[in-house]
Amino acid sequence: MSISNSKETTQRMAALHQKFAKIYGHQPEGIWRAPGRVNLIGEHTDYNMGFVLPFAIDKNALVAVRRKTQLDADRQTLDFASTYGSGEHPPITSITFDELVPRAVPGWAAYPAAVLWALNQLEGVELGGIQLLVDSDVPVGSGLSSSHALEVATIVALDDLYELGLSKVQMAQLTQRAENEFVGAPTGIMDQSASLMSHAQHALFLDCRSMETQAVPLPLAQHDAVVLVMDTRVEHSHVDGGYAARRASCEQAAAALEVQSLREVTVVAELEAIEDPVAKRRAMHIVTENRRVLDTVFALREGDLDAVGKLLYQSHESMRDDYEISSEELDVAVEAAMAAGAIGARMTGGGFGGSAIALIKREHIDKVSQAVREAFDQAGYVEPAIFTVIADEGAG
Ligand code: ADP
Ligand code: GAL
Repeated sequence: MSISNSKETTQRMAALHQKFAKIYGHQPEGIWRAPGRVNLIGEHTDYNMGFVLPFAIDKNALVAVRRKTQLDADRQTLDFASTYGSGEHPPITSITFDELVPRAVPGWAAYPAAVLWALNQLEGVELGGIQLLVDSDVPVGSGLSSSHALEVATIVALDDLYELGLSKVQMAQLTQRAENEFVGAPTGIMDQSASLMSHAQHALFLDCRSMETQAVPLPLAQHDAVVLVMDTRVEHSHVDGGYAARRASCEQAAAALEVQSLREVTVVAELEAIEDPVAKRRAMHIVTENRRVLDTVFALREGDLDAVGKLLYQSHESMRDDYEISSEELDVAVEAAMAAGAIGARMTGGGFGGSAIALIKREHIDKVSQAVREAFDQAGYVEPAIFTVIADEGAG
């Protein structure tokens, strides 16, 4: 069953409504939901205009919002609060429209503020003060896109309240702009798109150049298979240098090959023309990863999960050896899962920490989880968080 409609989500919505009234002294005008995501395959291909294959998961950010009226004393301020780590009395961060300056808003409020900033750049859009409260069960900093779930829930809420009529592609592009220019993280468009455009029990095949999508059925139930998330609990960050450095290497490789983006390259032999050995290896990952996404879509349509599993593991090797964005913890999780009988496994998301996924038979959930826990214990790492995820419906 889709969790987006579940009893648990309904209960969380009711609790959020109550909390909002308690904090702000008003009822919210509504509650909007946006999920986190797992990327099945297609890593770091998005900003290279390539292919990705993520799906929305059954963990989501809920935001309750109210537009201020003439009766509010401070009707031009933007008030943000989150239940995350804040106990019974979440503090309110208040900023004015004048303070909506790129990279100047500290802390988590930068994400919803970034969305307001991006919308404010649109011609004919006039926003006023709002009150916003977020409650999310997407693990923070685990590579499952908690920040994008927050951004997407915010833009979906504002699009609805101000009747902006934005398309999903426009919302994805605006939140990407918000994140790149306002927050200062040079990320691509995959995460927002997954949160906005996914369908339950399907992966989202997205061409990041044309923004065309196809919903690809995930034949997991037919094979008694599930996707297991292994969160290393080593937080990753997109604002740090590693992500930006990979992006720069790809641009360098594309320039050396005189193409607009690495998407234009489909033949590995063409990469010989890149002199810089690091840029060449980075480009090798992108070119082969794009191919693996297409092959995974084909294998899913054929119902060939073994082929999917092989592609997932090849993707991990490519990220470990050529793109060099894995970590010891991610490698240990992947190897332990494979040794315990996973059909395939790989790190997911930006890398440098965060989560890995394993495609496994349902009957192997305990065995694989136990093997990964033991491997972490032996290596002296913190205990990983391990759970299955369901491919859920996008934001609404
Ligand atoms: P990921 O998106 O993979 O979880 P990021 O480092 O990109 O990791 O984003 C995590 C950041 O998003 C947090 O540090 C915080 O600023 C913000 N965030 C995510 N969820 C929440 C939440 N429920 N409440 C407040 N801030 C949140
Ligand atoms: C992050 C980033 C995405 C994508 C991904 C790697 O999650 O936000 O845009 O580049 O890393 O595939």
